[in-house]
Amino acid sequence: MKTLIIAVDGPAAAGKGTLAAALARALGLPHLDTGLLYRAVARQMLLRGMDPQVDAGDAVALALQPADLARDDLRVPEIDRAASAVATQPGVRAALLQRQRDFAVATGAVIDGRDIGTVVFPDATVKLFVTASARTRALRRHLQLHDGQMPDGATLERLVEDIVARDTKDANRALSPLKCAEDAVVLETDDFDSRQVLDRALDIIHRRHRAG
Ligand code: DC
Repeated sequence: MKTLIIAVDGPAAAGKGTLAAALARALGLPHLDTGLLYRAVARQMLLRGMDPQVDAGDAVALALQPADLARDDLRVPEIDRAASAVATQPGVRAALLQRQRDFAVATGAVIDGRDIGTVVFPDATVKLFVTASARTRALRRHLQLHDGQMPDGATLERLVEDIVARDTKDANRALSPLKCAEDAVVLETDDFDSRQVLDRALDIIHRRHRAG
């Protein structure tokens, strides 16, 4: 049987990671969150006193160790911004490309990111593009970071601005921008909880996989 590769792309905090992890469990496949690779490179650069906006992180990307990915402090605002800068660097993207492909070829995988269906696995079995409004995503990110505590109005506005700025940067960079693949299925998640999104995704995968 053909190796099953499920590409899950979409903007920041759309619920890709939650969906990809749940899909991996349901399908018995390994899961790779590729945003963590960019975040880990950004963190290493900051630790070494390199400026992610200026310095090239190719060598850091090549030297990345699995332990660098398993850290709780990769999802903080400082790393959000640095990772977005790192992700514009051609050398870093090239170094991480092979790593992402190697992860999935033997066993199949569920892989989430921005360019999985367009660049990393253009022949993925199923491509999902998960999205939600900037406000929904800002709120989700806040609840995630603050144990379910609601943000006040000003904090939410700031978070929405941050998310829109990051979307614009991710979508407009020259190299592998955030883009929905032509053959991806779009999943709008504003009005659905994670269980409903999982059920819709599994339904799409089963239908596509049977047809393919
Ligand atoms: O999904 P995330 O927020 O953890 O991603 C962190 C940064 O890495 C974000 O600015 C987009 C970038 N990224 C990318 O360019 N390509 C990917 N496949 C995954 C993430």
